[in-house]
Amino acid sequence: MNKPSYGASVAKTRRLTAPDIAGRKGAEPVVCLTAYTYPMAKLLDPHVDLLLVGDSMGMALYGMDSTLGVTLDMSIAHGAAVVRGSKHACVIVDMPFGTYQESPAQAFRNCARVMTETGCGGIKIEGGVEMAETVKFLVERGIPVQGHIGLKPQSVNTAGGFRSQGHDSVSAAKIVADAQAVAEAGAFSIVIEAVTETLARKITDQVPVVTIGIGASPACDGQVLVTEDAIGMFNDFTPKFVKRFGEVGDAIGKAAAEYAREVRARTFPAPKNLYGDR
Ligand code: KIV
Repeated sequence: MNKPSYGASVAKTRRLTAPDIAGRKGAEPVVCLTAYTYPMAKLLDPHVDLLLVGDSMGMALYGMDSTLGVTLDMSIAHGAAVVRGSKHACVIVDMPFGTYQESPAQAFRNCARVMTETGCGGIKIEGGVEMAETVKFLVERGIPVQGHIGLKPQSVNTAGGFRSQGHDSVSAAKIVADAQAVAEAGAFSIVIEAVTETLARKITDQVPVVTIGIGASPACDGQVLVTEDAIGMFNDFTPKFVKRFGEVGDAIGKAAAEYAREVRARTFPAPKNLYGDR
């Protein structure tokens, strides 16, 4: 029997939910991009299944060195904007560092705020075996959880940098155990970031939960990229796992240069941009 398709037909009728995404295991790939703002959500929504309000906003939007400076209030403000700017995609909000690691009760309190104040469809937390109890606690209380294993940007200080993971058998076995623990705890999907291709493929084969790869494998059940990377917003650094699908940064630079030229030449505003006397 053919697997069900959740593509454009659902786009026209209603917003996708975490269970819809969970139902895509082994079926049509889940298309995911990050979004932090209303206009970007509006532009991306017709094309994606899932919009992730990632804490990558700290780096991509706020120019921070890591994701650690992102606060709950920032995530809520950006999450609410992305929900307002979309009507089809399932919106998932990343829980910032320090808002969920202390205890399941702390996690529930903060995740419930995010769900009620943004209207999002679920939250994402980083961690594997050590977060499984929290994932279970949240899911049992009505909060859809997306896991995040492999390279965990919120652990950059203990990891000693942003490094790909799973290159030796011990580290690979730990990441498989993380995936299994988060899946068994009830996560509807798991982001696998920057691990070897064979490991991402193996996890996708072994766990019954939808895997979303970033620097992982085409075999994953879906893919995610930071939108600013994918559209070519910046020229300074492009991680190995990014493909630039556009050169938006160049287009913005060209438009700004043309505007500056016209203002200096007094050709803008032109008569058609002006209000006449009544
Ligand atoms: O913060 C983020 O945008 C993420 C994705 C890169 C997976 O976690």
